[in-house]
Amino acid sequence: MAKMWKGRFKSKTHPLMEAFGQSISFDQELGRQDVAGSLAHAKMLHAVGLLSNGDYKAIKKGLDSIHKDIESGKMRYDPANEDIHMSIEAELTARIGEPAKKLHTGRSRNDQVATDLRLWTREKQDVIMGRLRDLMNALVDVGQRERHLVIPGYTHLQRAQPVLLAHHLMAYVEMFARDRERMADCRRRTNRLPLGSGALAGTTLPLDRDMVRKELGFDSLCENSMDAVSDRDFVIETLFCLSLIAIHTSRLAEDIIHWTSSEWSLAKLDDAWSTGSSIMPQKRNPDLLELTRGKTGRVVGSLVSLLMVVKGLPMTYNRDLQEDKEPLFDAVRTVDFVLECLAAFLPTLTFDKNRAAAMLQDGFLDATVLAEYLVEKGLPFRSAHEVSGLLVRRAEDTGRQLRDLSHDEMRAASPLIGIDVYQRLDPARTPGSYKTAGAASPRSVSRALTAWRKRLAK
Ligand code: ARG
Repeated sequence: MAKMWKGRFKSKTHPLMEAFGQSISFDQELGRQDVAGSLAHAKMLHAVGLLSNGDYKAIKKGLDSIHKDIESGKMRYDPANEDIHMSIEAELTARIGEPAKKLHTGRSRNDQVATDLRLWTREKQDVIMGRLRDLMNALVDVGQRERHLVIPGYTHLQRAQPVLLAHHLMAYVEMFARDRERMADCRRRTNRLPLGSGALAGTTLPLDRDMVRKELGFDSLCENSMDAVSDRDFVIETLFCLSLIAIHTSRLAEDIIHWTSSEWSLAKLDDAWSTGSSIMPQKRNPDLLELTRGKTGRVVGSLVSLLMVVKGLPMTYNRDLQEDKEPLFDAVRTVDFVLECLAAFLPTLTFDKNRAAAMLQDGFLDATVLAEYLVEKGLPFRSAHEVSGLLVRRAEDTGRQLRDLSHDEMRAASPLIGIDVYQRLDPARTPGSYKTAGAASPRSVSRALTAWRKRLAK
Protein backbone atom coordinates (compact mmCIF):
# COMPACT_ATOMS: atom_id res chain seq x y z
CA MET A 1 0.00 0.00 0.00
CA ALA A 2 1.36 3.35 -0.97
CA LYS A 3 1.49 5.67 2.02
CA MET A 4 -0.42 8.70 0.86
CA TRP A 5 1.17 10.91 3.48
CA LYS A 6 4.73 9.60 3.47
CA GLY A 7 6.05 12.69 5.26
CA ARG A 8 6.85 11.47 8.75
CA PHE A 9 7.66 7.80 8.03
CA LYS A 10 11.06 6.40 7.09
CA SER A 11 10.03 2.84 6.26
CA LYS A 12 7.12 1.09 4.64
CA THR A 13 4.14 -0.40 6.49
CA HIS A 14 4.38 -4.11 7.28
CA PRO A 15 2.20 -6.09 4.84
CA LEU A 16 0.41 -7.74 7.75
CA MET A 17 -0.42 -4.32 9.17
CA GLU A 18 -1.82 -3.33 5.80
CA ALA A 19 -3.93 -6.46 5.50
CA PHE A 20 -5.12 -6.12 9.08
CA GLY A 21 -6.03 -2.45 8.82
CA GLN A 22 -7.65 -2.31 5.40
CA SER A 23 -11.37 -1.71 5.11
CA ILE A 24 -11.66 -1.27 1.34
CA SER A 25 -12.84 -4.86 1.00
CA PHE A 26 -16.08 -3.89 2.72
CA ASP A 27 -16.36 -0.11 2.93
CA GLN A 28 -16.56 0.22 -0.87
CA GLU A 29 -20.24 -0.04 -0.01
CA LEU A 30 -19.86 3.68 0.87
CA GLY A 31 -18.57 4.74 -2.57
CA ARG A 32 -21.59 6.76 -3.64
CA GLN A 33 -21.87 8.49 -0.28
CA ASP A 34 -18.16 9.32 -0.25
CA VAL A 35 -18.39 10.98 -3.65
CA ALA A 36 -21.54 12.89 -2.64
CA GLY A 37 -19.80 14.15 0.52
CA SER A 38 -16.74 15.20 -1.48
CA LEU A 39 -18.83 17.03 -4.08
CA ALA A 40 -20.57 19.04 -1.37
CA HIS A 41 -17.29 19.72 0.42
CA ALA A 42 -15.61 20.91 -2.82
CA LYS A 43 -18.54 23.14 -3.69
CA MET A 44 -18.30 24.76 -0.28
CA LEU A 45 -14.48 25.13 -0.48
CA HIS A 46 -15.01 26.97 -3.74
CA ALA A 47 -17.75 29.16 -2.27
CA VAL A 48 -15.57 30.24 0.67
CA GLY A 49 -12.61 30.94 -1.60
CA LEU A 50 -10.41 27.94 -0.75
CA LEU A 51 -10.70 26.46 -4.27
CA SER A 52 -10.20 28.36 -7.52
CA ASN A 53 -12.78 28.10 -10.29
CA GLY A 54 -10.49 25.91 -12.34
CA ASP A 55 -9.64 23.55 -9.48
CA TYR A 56 -13.28 23.23 -8.48
CA LYS A 57 -14.35 22.47 -12.03
CA ALA A 58 -11.66 19.82 -12.39
CA ILE A 59 -12.59 18.20 -9.06
CA LYS A 60 -16.29 18.24 -9.89
CA LYS A 61 -15.71 16.72 -13.29
CA GLY A 62 -13.47 14.03 -11.84
CA LEU A 63 -15.89 13.17 -9.04
CA ASP A 64 -18.83 13.09 -11.46
CA SER A 65 -17.00 10.62 -13.65
CA ILE A 66 -16.14 8.45 -10.64
CA HIS A 67 -19.78 8.61 -9.58
CA LYS A 68 -20.83 7.41 -13.03
CA ASP A 69 -18.42 4.49 -12.86
CA ILE A 70 -19.69 3.50 -9.42
CA GLU A 71 -23.30 3.63 -10.60
CA SER A 72 -22.58 1.53 -13.67
CA GLY A 73 -20.58 -0.97 -11.64
CA LYS A 74 -17.41 -0.21 -13.60
CA MET A 75 -15.44 1.16 -10.69
CA ARG A 76 -12.61 -1.13 -9.56
CA TYR A 77 -10.93 -0.48 -6.24
CA ASP A 78 -7.21 -1.02 -5.94
CA PRO A 79 -6.64 -3.12 -2.79
CA ALA A 80 -3.46 -1.09 -2.29
CA ASN A 81 -5.62 1.73 -0.96
CA GLU A 82 -6.61 1.26 2.64
CA ASP A 83 -10.21 2.43 2.60
CA ILE A 84 -12.91 3.93 0.41
CA HIS A 85 -11.86 7.50 1.23
CA MET A 86 -8.26 6.97 0.15
CA SER A 87 -9.35 4.92 -2.86
CA ILE A 88 -11.55 7.65 -4.22
CA GLU A 89 -8.97 10.34 -3.55
CA ALA A 90 -6.34 8.22 -5.31
CA GLU A 91 -8.70 7.63 -8.21
CA LEU A 92 -9.44 11.34 -8.45
CA THR A 93 -5.72 12.09 -8.46
CA ALA A 94 -5.21 9.56 -11.23
CA ARG A 95 -7.98 11.20 -13.27
CA ILE A 96 -7.35 14.92 -12.74
CA GLY A 97 -3.88 15.21 -11.21
CA GLU A 98 -2.78 18.21 -9.13
CA PRO A 99 -6.20 19.80 -8.22
CA ALA A 100 -7.19 16.57 -6.44
CA LYS A 101 -4.67 17.43 -3.73
CA LYS A 102 -6.88 20.29 -2.56
CA LEU A 103 -10.01 18.25 -1.96
CA HIS A 104 -9.04 17.15 1.55
CA THR A 105 -8.67 20.78 2.72
CA GLY A 106 -10.17 21.25 6.18
CA ARG A 107 -11.34 17.65 6.26
CA SER A 108 -10.27 14.49 8.02
CA ARG A 109 -11.22 10.94 7.30
CA ASN A 110 -12.78 11.03 10.75
CA ASP A 111 -15.52 13.50 9.87
CA GLN A 112 -15.59 12.09 6.35
CA VAL A 113 -16.36 8.52 7.37
CA ALA A 114 -18.92 9.67 9.93
CA THR A 115 -20.66 11.66 7.20
CA ASP A 116 -20.57 8.85 4.65
CA LEU A 117 -21.97 6.39 7.15
CA ARG A 118 -24.80 8.72 8.17
CA LEU A 119 -25.73 9.22 4.51
CA TRP A 120 -25.69 5.47 3.95
CA THR A 121 -27.66 4.69 7.10
CA ARG A 122 -30.28 7.33 6.35
CA GLU A 123 -30.88 5.82 2.92
CA LYS A 124 -31.22 2.30 4.31
CA GLN A 125 -33.54 3.42 7.08
CA ASP A 126 -35.87 4.63 4.33
CA VAL A 127 -35.57 1.33 2.49
CA ILE A 128 -36.39 -0.66 5.65
CA MET A 129 -39.36 1.59 6.44
CA GLY A 130 -40.67 0.94 2.92
CA ARG A 131 -40.23 -2.79 3.40
CA LEU A 132 -42.13 -2.63 6.69
CA ARG A 133 -44.97 -0.90 4.92
CA ASP A 134 -45.06 -3.66 2.28
CA LEU A 135 -45.15 -6.34 4.94
CA MET A 136 -47.91 -4.54 6.85
CA ASN A 137 -49.91 -4.29 3.62
CA ALA A 138 -49.49 -8.01 3.05
CA LEU A 139 -50.72 -8.73 6.60
CA VAL A 140 -53.74 -6.48 6.10
CA ASP A 141 -54.50 -8.22 2.79
CA VAL A 142 -54.45 -11.69 4.33
CA GLY A 143 -56.47 -10.42 7.31
CA GLN A 144 -59.05 -8.99 4.93
CA ARG A 145 -59.21 -12.17 2.88
CA GLU A 146 -59.64 -14.36 5.99
CA ARG A 147 -61.72 -11.91 7.98
CA HIS A 148 -64.34 -14.52 8.95
CA LEU A 149 -61.95 -17.22 10.10
CA VAL A 150 -62.03 -17.94 13.84
CA ILE A 151 -59.10 -19.82 15.38
CA PRO A 152 -58.09 -20.65 18.93
CA GLY A 153 -56.08 -17.93 20.62
CA TYR A 154 -53.40 -19.16 23.01
CA THR A 155 -51.66 -18.25 26.21
CA HIS A 156 -48.85 -20.52 27.41
CA LEU A 157 -49.44 -22.41 24.15
CA GLN A 158 -52.71 -23.69 25.67
CA ARG A 159 -55.94 -23.06 23.82
CA ALA A 160 -57.43 -20.08 25.61
CA GLN A 161 -60.15 -18.08 23.84
CA PRO A 162 -61.40 -17.90 20.27
CA VAL A 163 -60.03 -15.06 18.16
CA LEU A 164 -60.31 -13.97 14.58
CA LEU A 165 -57.23 -14.96 12.61
CA ALA A 166 -57.23 -11.41 11.27
CA HIS A 167 -56.87 -10.11 14.82
CA HIS A 168 -53.83 -12.31 15.32
CA LEU A 169 -52.30 -10.98 12.08
CA MET A 170 -53.15 -7.40 12.94
CA ALA A 171 -51.21 -7.79 16.19
CA TYR A 172 -48.12 -7.99 13.98
CA VAL A 173 -49.20 -4.93 12.05
CA GLU A 174 -49.15 -3.04 15.36
CA MET A 175 -45.64 -4.32 16.12
CA PHE A 176 -44.28 -3.41 12.69
CA ALA A 177 -45.96 -0.02 12.92
CA ARG A 178 -44.07 0.68 16.14
CA ASP A 179 -40.90 -0.54 14.44
CA ARG A 180 -41.45 2.03 11.71
CA GLU A 181 -42.05 4.80 14.21
CA ARG A 182 -38.88 3.84 16.01
CA MET A 183 -36.88 3.85 12.80
CA ALA A 184 -38.30 7.23 11.78
CA ASP A 185 -37.34 8.63 15.16
CA CYS A 186 -33.85 7.19 14.88
CA ARG A 187 -33.56 8.71 11.40
CA ARG A 188 -34.04 12.18 12.89
CA ARG A 189 -30.95 11.71 15.05
CA THR A 190 -29.03 10.12 12.18
CA ASN A 191 -29.70 13.03 9.86
CA ARG A 192 -27.15 15.42 11.36
CA LEU A 193 -23.96 16.50 9.63
CA PRO A 194 -20.53 15.71 11.12
CA LEU A 195 -18.49 17.11 8.19
CA GLY A 196 -16.60 20.26 9.09
CA SER A 197 -15.56 18.84 12.44
CA GLY A 198 -12.11 17.99 11.06
CA ALA A 199 -10.14 15.31 12.88
CA LEU A 200 -11.68 16.23 16.24
CA ALA A 201 -11.32 19.93 16.98
CA GLY A 202 -12.64 21.77 13.95
CA THR A 203 -10.36 23.73 11.66
CA THR A 204 -8.72 27.13 11.38
CA LEU A 205 -10.04 27.36 7.83
CA PRO A 206 -13.30 29.28 7.30
CA LEU A 207 -15.52 26.36 6.27
CA ASP A 208 -19.25 26.92 5.80
CA ARG A 209 -20.73 23.85 7.44
CA ASP A 210 -24.29 24.98 6.98
CA MET A 211 -23.84 25.14 3.24
CA VAL A 212 -22.63 21.52 3.21
CA ARG A 213 -25.53 20.57 5.44
CA LYS A 214 -28.06 21.97 2.96
CA GLU A 215 -26.20 20.47 0.04
CA LEU A 216 -26.39 16.97 1.54
CA GLY A 217 -29.91 17.27 2.92
CA PHE A 218 -29.06 17.01 6.62
CA ASP A 219 -31.55 18.51 9.09
CA SER A 220 -28.91 20.02 11.36
CA LEU A 221 -25.23 20.03 12.29
CA CYS A 222 -23.54 17.79 14.83
CA GLU A 223 -22.95 20.50 17.39
CA ASN A 224 -19.72 19.30 18.99
CA SER A 225 -16.75 18.39 16.79
CA MET A 226 -15.40 15.82 19.26
CA ASP A 227 -18.77 14.12 19.56
CA ALA A 228 -19.28 14.35 15.80
CA VAL A 229 -16.26 12.21 14.90
CA SER A 230 -16.63 9.62 17.63
CA ASP A 231 -20.39 9.18 18.01
CA ARG A 232 -21.84 5.98 16.63
CA ASP A 233 -25.16 6.15 18.52
CA PHE A 234 -26.96 6.33 15.21
CA VAL A 235 -25.49 2.99 14.16
CA ILE A 236 -26.33 1.38 17.49
CA GLU A 237 -29.86 2.76 17.45
CA THR A 238 -30.36 1.55 13.90
CA LEU A 239 -29.11 -1.88 14.92
CA PHE A 240 -31.52 -1.87 17.83
CA CYS A 241 -34.42 -0.97 15.53
CA LEU A 242 -33.33 -3.76 13.16
CA SER A 243 -33.02 -6.20 16.05
CA LEU A 244 -36.54 -5.55 17.20
CA ILE A 245 -37.83 -5.92 13.65
CA ALA A 246 -35.95 -9.21 13.40
CA ILE A 247 -37.43 -10.35 16.70
CA HIS A 248 -40.93 -9.49 15.51
CA THR A 249 -40.41 -11.32 12.20
CA SER A 250 -39.05 -14.24 14.18
CA ARG A 251 -42.20 -14.41 16.29
CA LEU A 252 -44.37 -14.24 13.18
CA ALA A 253 -42.28 -17.00 11.61
CA GLU A 254 -42.66 -19.10 14.74
CA ASP A 255 -46.45 -18.73 14.68
CA ILE A 256 -46.63 -19.78 11.04
CA ILE A 257 -44.29 -22.70 11.71
CA HIS A 258 -46.83 -23.87 14.30
CA TRP A 259 -49.79 -23.34 11.99
CA THR A 260 -48.17 -25.30 9.15
CA SER A 261 -46.79 -28.10 11.34
CA SER A 262 -48.26 -31.60 11.00
CA GLU A 263 -49.57 -31.32 14.56
CA TRP A 264 -51.47 -28.07 13.92
CA SER A 265 -52.31 -28.46 10.19
CA LEU A 266 -54.14 -25.16 10.27
CA ALA A 267 -52.34 -23.58 7.34
CA LYS A 268 -50.55 -24.84 4.27
CA LEU A 269 -47.35 -23.60 2.67
CA ASP A 270 -47.49 -22.96 -1.03
CA ASP A 271 -45.14 -25.18 -3.06
CA ALA A 272 -43.14 -22.15 -4.09
CA TRP A 273 -42.23 -21.53 -0.47
CA SER A 274 -41.80 -25.10 0.75
CA THR A 275 -38.60 -27.06 0.71
CA GLY A 276 -38.21 -30.81 0.58
CA SER A 277 -36.07 -33.19 2.53
CA SER A 278 -33.16 -35.00 0.93
CA ILE A 279 -34.34 -38.27 2.45
CA MET A 280 -38.00 -38.02 3.51
CA PRO A 281 -40.18 -37.57 0.41
CA GLN A 282 -43.30 -36.46 2.28
CA LYS A 283 -41.75 -33.35 3.88
CA ARG A 284 -42.82 -29.75 3.25
CA ASN A 285 -40.38 -27.78 5.28
CA PRO A 286 -40.85 -24.14 6.25
CA ASP A 287 -37.22 -23.14 5.62
CA LEU A 288 -38.07 -19.51 4.92
CA LEU A 289 -39.62 -19.22 8.35
CA GLU A 290 -36.89 -21.14 10.11
CA LEU A 291 -34.21 -19.02 8.49
CA THR A 292 -36.15 -15.89 9.39
CA ARG A 293 -36.12 -17.06 13.00
CA GLY A 294 -32.48 -18.11 12.75
CA LYS A 295 -31.19 -14.90 11.18
CA THR A 296 -32.46 -12.95 14.16
CA GLY A 297 -29.41 -14.18 16.01
CA ARG A 298 -26.94 -12.46 13.73
CA VAL A 299 -28.91 -9.20 13.72
CA VAL A 300 -29.00 -9.03 17.50
CA GLY A 301 -25.36 -10.15 17.46
CA SER A 302 -24.50 -7.10 15.35
CA LEU A 303 -26.13 -4.83 17.90
CA VAL A 304 -24.22 -6.40 20.78
CA SER A 305 -21.02 -6.29 18.75
CA LEU A 306 -21.29 -2.52 18.22
CA LEU A 307 -22.20 -1.88 21.84
CA MET A 308 -18.99 -3.65 22.82
CA VAL A 309 -16.89 -1.78 20.24
CA VAL A 310 -17.94 1.57 21.66
CA LYS A 311 -17.79 0.60 25.30
CA GLY A 312 -14.74 2.12 26.94
CA LEU A 313 -13.49 4.04 23.88
CA PRO A 314 -11.65 7.15 24.97
CA MET A 315 -12.51 10.36 23.15
CA THR A 316 -12.41 10.89 20.26
CA TYR A 317 -11.92 8.83 17.08
CA ASN A 318 -10.19 5.48 17.53
CA ARG A 319 -9.63 2.95 14.83
CA ASP A 320 -11.89 0.52 16.68
CA LEU A 321 -14.73 2.45 15.07
CA GLN A 322 -13.88 0.92 11.72
CA GLU A 323 -15.57 -2.18 13.16
CA ASP A 324 -18.93 -0.42 12.93
CA LYS A 325 -19.47 -1.14 9.26
CA GLU A 326 -19.64 -4.89 8.74
CA PRO A 327 -22.24 -5.52 11.48
CA LEU A 328 -24.36 -2.62 10.21
CA PHE A 329 -24.13 -3.68 6.56
CA ASP A 330 -24.91 -7.28 7.43
CA ALA A 331 -27.86 -6.45 9.67
CA VAL A 332 -29.39 -4.11 7.09
CA ARG A 333 -28.93 -6.63 4.27
CA THR A 334 -30.40 -9.42 6.41
CA VAL A 335 -33.49 -7.57 7.63
CA ASP A 336 -34.11 -6.07 4.21
CA PHE A 337 -34.16 -9.54 2.64
CA VAL A 338 -36.26 -11.11 5.40
CA LEU A 339 -38.91 -8.39 5.06
CA GLU A 340 -38.96 -8.67 1.28
CA CYS A 341 -39.43 -12.46 1.45
CA LEU A 342 -42.13 -12.38 4.12
CA ALA A 343 -44.19 -9.82 2.20
CA ALA A 344 -44.01 -11.98 -0.93
CA PHE A 345 -44.72 -15.19 0.98
CA LEU A 346 -47.67 -14.19 3.16
CA PRO A 347 -50.34 -13.89 0.45
CA THR A 348 -49.57 -17.48 -0.62
CA LEU A 349 -50.33 -18.95 2.79
CA THR A 350 -53.71 -20.76 2.86
CA PHE A 351 -55.83 -21.74 5.84
CA ASP A 352 -57.98 -24.83 6.42
CA LYS A 353 -61.40 -23.71 7.64
CA ASN A 354 -62.52 -27.19 8.68
CA ARG A 355 -59.41 -27.71 10.72
CA ALA A 356 -59.91 -24.31 12.40
CA ALA A 357 -63.51 -25.27 13.24
CA ALA A 358 -62.41 -28.61 14.65
CA MET A 359 -59.71 -27.00 16.78
CA LEU A 360 -62.28 -24.66 18.28
CA GLN A 361 -64.44 -27.55 19.48
CA ASP A 362 -61.66 -28.89 21.60
CA GLY A 363 -60.20 -27.32 24.71
CA PHE A 364 -63.14 -25.54 26.38
CA LEU A 365 -62.55 -22.26 24.60
CA ASP A 366 -65.99 -21.13 25.79
CA ALA A 367 -65.28 -21.56 29.52
CA THR A 368 -64.53 -17.85 29.97
CA VAL A 369 -67.69 -16.90 28.13
CA LEU A 370 -69.66 -19.11 30.51
CA ALA A 371 -68.11 -17.37 33.52
CA GLU A 372 -68.93 -13.97 32.03
CA TYR A 373 -72.48 -15.14 31.36
CA LEU A 374 -72.83 -15.83 35.08
CA VAL A 375 -71.43 -12.39 35.90
CA GLU A 376 -74.18 -10.89 33.76
CA LYS A 377 -76.65 -12.94 35.82
CA GLY A 378 -75.31 -11.32 38.97
CA LEU A 379 -72.74 -13.80 40.28
CA PRO A 380 -69.42 -12.32 41.52
CA PHE A 381 -66.67 -13.13 39.02
CA ARG A 382 -64.66 -15.35 41.38
CA SER A 383 -67.73 -17.55 42.02
CA ALA A 384 -68.59 -17.55 38.32
CA HIS A 385 -65.04 -18.71 37.56
CA GLU A 386 -65.50 -21.54 40.01
CA VAL A 387 -68.86 -22.66 38.60
CA SER A 388 -67.49 -22.63 35.07
CA GLY A 389 -64.45 -24.60 36.25
CA LEU A 390 -66.65 -27.23 37.89
CA LEU A 391 -68.66 -27.64 34.70
CA VAL A 392 -65.47 -27.93 32.63
CA ARG A 393 -64.32 -30.67 34.96
CA ARG A 394 -67.64 -32.48 34.68
CA ALA A 395 -67.58 -32.28 30.88
CA GLU A 396 -63.94 -33.32 30.71
CA ASP A 397 -64.47 -36.30 33.03
CA THR A 398 -67.28 -37.57 30.82
CA GLY A 399 -65.60 -36.84 27.49
CA ARG A 400 -67.96 -34.02 26.51
CA GLN A 401 -67.87 -30.31 25.69
CA LEU A 402 -69.63 -27.65 27.77
CA ARG A 403 -72.55 -27.39 25.36
CA ASP A 404 -73.14 -31.20 25.70
CA LEU A 405 -74.03 -30.83 29.39
CA SER A 406 -77.74 -30.95 30.08
CA HIS A 407 -79.54 -27.93 31.46
CA ASP A 408 -80.12 -29.87 34.69
CA GLU A 409 -76.43 -30.57 35.09
CA MET A 410 -75.74 -26.89 34.53
CA ARG A 411 -78.36 -25.78 37.00
CA ALA A 412 -76.97 -28.14 39.57
CA ALA A 413 -73.79 -26.08 39.42
CA SER A 414 -75.66 -22.77 39.51
CA PRO A 415 -79.39 -22.05 39.43
CA LEU A 416 -78.57 -18.81 37.60
CA ILE A 417 -77.85 -20.70 34.39
CA GLY A 418 -80.80 -20.33 32.04
CA ILE A 419 -81.58 -22.15 28.85
CA ASP A 420 -80.20 -19.16 26.92
CA VAL A 421 -76.69 -20.26 27.93
CA TYR A 422 -76.51 -22.63 24.97
CA GLN A 423 -76.51 -19.72 22.53
CA ARG A 424 -73.27 -18.54 24.10
CA LEU A 425 -71.53 -21.88 24.10
CA ASP A 426 -70.25 -21.94 20.56
CA PRO A 427 -66.58 -20.94 20.31
CA ALA A 428 -67.03 -20.15 16.63
CA ARG A 429 -69.47 -17.40 17.57
CA THR A 430 -67.72 -16.13 20.66
CA PRO A 431 -65.73 -13.35 18.93
CA GLY A 432 -69.05 -11.78 17.97
CA SER A 433 -69.80 -11.15 21.62
CA TYR A 434 -66.50 -9.52 22.63
CA LYS A 435 -67.46 -5.96 23.50
CA THR A 436 -64.27 -4.08 24.38
CA ALA A 437 -62.30 -1.78 22.12
CA GLY A 438 -59.35 -3.58 20.58
CA ALA A 439 -60.90 -7.02 21.18
CA ALA A 440 -60.79 -9.99 18.80
CA SER A 441 -64.31 -9.21 17.62
CA PRO A 442 -65.41 -8.81 14.00
CA ARG A 443 -66.31 -5.22 14.71
CA SER A 444 -62.99 -4.09 16.12
CA VAL A 445 -61.04 -6.17 13.61
CA SER A 446 -62.82 -4.67 10.63
CA ARG A 447 -62.27 -1.24 12.12
CA ALA A 448 -58.53 -1.99 12.42
CA LEU A 449 -58.34 -3.38 8.89
CA THR A 450 -59.96 -0.26 7.45
CA ALA A 451 -57.90 2.11 9.54
CA TRP A 452 -54.60 0.46 8.61
CA ARG A 453 -55.54 0.19 4.96
CA LYS A 454 -56.10 3.96 4.98
CA ARG A 455 -52.94 4.80 6.95
CA LEU A 456 -50.79 2.59 4.76
CA ALA A 457 -52.14 4.14 1.56
CA LYS A 458 -50.89 7.58 2.65
N1 ARG B 1 -11.50 3.41 7.48
C1 ARG B 1 -11.64 4.25 8.62
C2 ARG B 1 -12.92 3.89 9.36
O1 ARG B 1 -13.69 3.19 8.84
C3 ARG B 1 -11.70 5.66 8.18
C4 ARG B 1 -11.25 6.64 9.21
C5 ARG B 1 -9.80 6.50 9.43
N2 ARG B 1 -9.30 7.56 10.27
C6 ARG B 1 -8.15 7.46 10.87
N3 ARG B 1 -7.79 8.45 11.60
N4 ARG B 1 -7.39 6.42 10.76
O2 ARG B 1 -13.13 4.29 10.48
